[in-house]
Amino acid sequence: MASIGQIIFWSMIVLIFVMAGIIILLLAIAFSVSQGSVVTNTPFPVGNLGKDVMLGCKFQTKTGQISSSVSITWQKDGLTGVVYQYQNNGVHLQDQNPQFKNRVTLFPDVITTGNASLLLRTVRMEDEGVYRCSVTASGVTGSASIRLRVGAFSAPNITRSENNSLAANAPRWLPKPDVTWLDLNGSQLNSSTQFSTLTMGIVQVTSNLQVQVTDGIYTCIIQNALVTALSTATVTGNGVSTTTDFTFNSSPNIMKSHVISTSFILFCMLVR
Ligand SMILES: *[C@@H]1O[C@H](CO)[C@@H](O)[C@H](O)[C@H]1NC(C)=O
Ligand SMILES: *[C@@H]1O[C@H](CO)[C@@H](O)[C@H](O)[C@H]1NC(C)=O
Ligand SMILES: *[C@@H]1O[C@H](CO)[C@@H](O)[C@H](O)[C@H]1NC(C)=O
Ligand SMILES: *[C@@H]1O[C@H](CO)[C@@H](O)[C@H](O)[C@H]1NC(C)=O
Ligand SMILES: *[C@@H]1O[C@H](CO)[C@@H](O)[C@H](O)[C@H]1NC(C)=O
Repeated sequence: MASIGQIIFWSMIVLIFVMAGIIILLLAIAFSVSQGSVVTNTPFPVGNLGKDVMLGCKFQTKTGQISSSVSITWQKDGLTGVVYQYQNNGVHLQDQNPQFKNRVTLFPDVITTGNASLLLRTVRMEDEGVYRCSVTASGVTGSASIRLRVGAFSAPNITRSENNSLAANAPRWLPKPDVTWLDLNGSQLNSSTQFSTLTMGIVQVTSNLQVQVTDGIYTCIIQNALVTALSTATVTGNGVSTTTDFTFNSSPNIMKSHVISTSFILFCMLVR
């Protein structure tokens, strides 16, 4: 049997630990606030093979002031060395992984505004992966991670074909996309799409609408797991004018859920 004295003793010990825990938590919160922040607005950018891509990263100090001695290090998960390193107002590339030689740069003029974004030139397939932007300066310590995915995408050229229909031609897509045509009311129109494979699995997309068109607005959507190109084609007596907007499918989970639903359907078919 524990005596009253023992119960009080252990209660005090427990109380001390609980109080200590709360104090540590409060200190941690205060400390993290005083450390400023490092963030990205674009955690899932998509690179277009052979083109340049921006990996966004910005930082803010607690006071809002940015001293000149900022240290910025970009690294890529699973790779030795650094992608890029900037320290004491200078570039330090002794440790740079050869994959990035002469292909990356920061924007030195805007570092003091909190811009630590990295420009990666002539994107390659092996550039895919998780990048980490780490910033250390007075009033800020932290890092942000950016997952770069790589594919190929291009706006289609939409023309009126001889049989008074429409044909869309997009020179480069990877992975192979789906093509959908819609009328002004958003109803799907019949079409037939062909792919011809160029280098590295990149396909050229040719899609023919299977209905006659009249003056008006038609929509052609070319879409894969990474990118959606929405083209609005305005057909007039004189021809076709087209505008295309690209949106990047922001989360890699979109692809995952697609895979899951497909395998679920397969499973159901097997069970039957
Ligand atoms: C950083 O600066 C570059 C060059 O001025 C600009 O293109 C980019 O949008 C900026 N990034 C951020 C996150 O502000
Ligand atoms: C679109 O196709 C037409 C007809 O084939 C061609 O004259 C025109 O140059 C093409 N435009 C582009 C931007 O490729
Ligand atoms: C769109 O819908 C309206 C009303 O339902 C219809 O009158 C019109 O013909 C439709 N247009 C097309 C291009 O299908
Ligand atoms: C689309 O094609 C299918 C099969 O080829 C056909 O049955 C259907 O009538 C077509 N729809 C339209 C709107 O032309
Ligand atoms: C027009 O021709 C293309 C091939 O040149 C064909 O795929 C398409 O179905 C034709 N469209 C109509 C409305 O006949």
